[in-house]
Amino acid sequence: MKFPKDFLFGAASAAYQIEGGYNQDGKGVSNWDVFSKIPGKTFEGTNGDVAIDHYNRYKEDIKLMAEMGLESYRFSVSWCRIIPNGTGEINQKGIDFYNNIINECLKYGIVPFVTLYHWDLPQVLQEKGGWINKDTIDAFLNYANVCFKAFGDRVKHWITFNETIVFSKLGYINGAHPPAIQNDEKKYFQSTHNVFVAHAKAVELYKKLKQYGEIGITHVFSPAFSVDDNEENLDAENHANNMETYWYYDPILLGKYPEYMVEYLKKKEITPDWTEEELELLKRNASKNDFIGLNYYQPQRVIKNIDDVDVKFSRENSTGAAGGVYFDGYFKTVIDDDKKYTKWGWEISPEGFLDGLRMLKARYGDVKIYITENGLGDEDIIIDGEIVDIPRIKFIEEHLVAVKNAIKEGINLKGYYAWSVIDLLSWLNGYKKQYGFIYVDHNNKLARKKKLSFYWYKNIIETRGENL
Ligand code: BG6
Repeated sequence: MKFPKDFLFGAASAAYQIEGGYNQDGKGVSNWDVFSKIPGKTFEGTNGDVAIDHYNRYKEDIKLMAEMGLESYRFSVSWCRIIPNGTGEINQKGIDFYNNIINECLKYGIVPFVTLYHWDLPQVLQEKGGWINKDTIDAFLNYANVCFKAFGDRVKHWITFNETIVFSKLGYINGAHPPAIQNDEKKYFQSTHNVFVAHAKAVELYKKLKQYGEIGITHVFSPAFSVDDNEENLDAENHANNMETYWYYDPILLGKYPEYMVEYLKKKEITPDWTEEELELLKRNASKNDFIGLNYYQPQRVIKNIDDVDVKFSRENSTGAAGGVYFDGYFKTVIDDDKKYTKWGWEISPEGFLDGLRMLKARYGDVKIYITENGLGDEDIIIDGEIVDIPRIKFIEEHLVAVKNAIKEGINLKGYYAWSVIDLLSWLNGYKKQYGFIYVDHNNKLARKKKLSFYWYKNIIETRGENL
């Protein structure tokens, strides 16, 4: 089987991880510009000041994407390049930059898929409380409006937010992302609720503008599976899926929060401050959302946490080493010696991917899905100057087979975006952890070089995955 004609083969990136030019042409300061400079927060103190200098090399990079045959490119817009202080004055040079990116893509027939928010919040808004301040919702709506009006004639695919769970959880529970607060569950849930409201408002606005494109939201999808049929562990599985999957997709697709979670929050007295009006907004928005994006890296193997320990290790840390197991006090994830893991301890499981997609179909029916990220973080092997990233090829191949099988089963999958199009800055792991089809030589003026996977993906796209 070839992949259907309307299925998009793409690859992705995010502004902070590639652009650099952190103070070029009137860009404002983001929370990450500030946070990454606090000693000890990122691996070896890396930051995105220069990143891979895509801001100045975008033509070269998009030309390479075209050469790879990429059908679509997912990238994010930096809010403070467009509106330096979060609200108020618009920076025309920021608008020009993204116009250039979009036009360059279209020149080669590459479909631009734009994420409005991939974690870099204007610092001014962060200082006023960030995502737990409801004023940020209105500021986001204004920013979204500016983007729709500036780019909407050519951009027909919009993602409002990338992975609310990651910036909220790491921001308010683990303290590993800005604003680096630890163990504040109330704030964590408030942040997520405010983001869902901002999403719903942006969707409504977009529909009113009648630009006739599509709009959705992306979450990281880590389906939880109990290690066995033990009742306690199955309960842990249910808990984990409610906390980390249903909490994120129910308000978007069903227009309400899962009962289980509403009870959980009530019991812990951490129900977010929400109004009837906001809940009504979520309800009426459910039918307007066009798709969901899934960033899939790994599933979670869970058991009930019987130790009375409430420590939160996470996959994200700034040591450059593998992440630890993760638990929220109720469940914990375990490492299974029979399974395969990446160098950073993330399980490699295309089976978990397919099972997870089935789980979503059972809950949400035929919702349109894009895989907005999937890929292998690795330290690539270089032999005689060639980047021989065979493990990446194998990883993507196995996951594309899962996508193909899902389509055969009737799951409504419309595109696949490998993470990442080019080697970039990992938020906490610096440049050591590579994901791209294109290598960036940090010892040679950030020169670009095609990896083995570049040619492999080109062939997959050309043959529409027929031989997978
Ligand atoms: C996703 C993010 O969570 O995972 C990306 O959307 C990120 O921005 C990717 O780079 C991989 O994470 P890491 O920690 O390996 O860089």
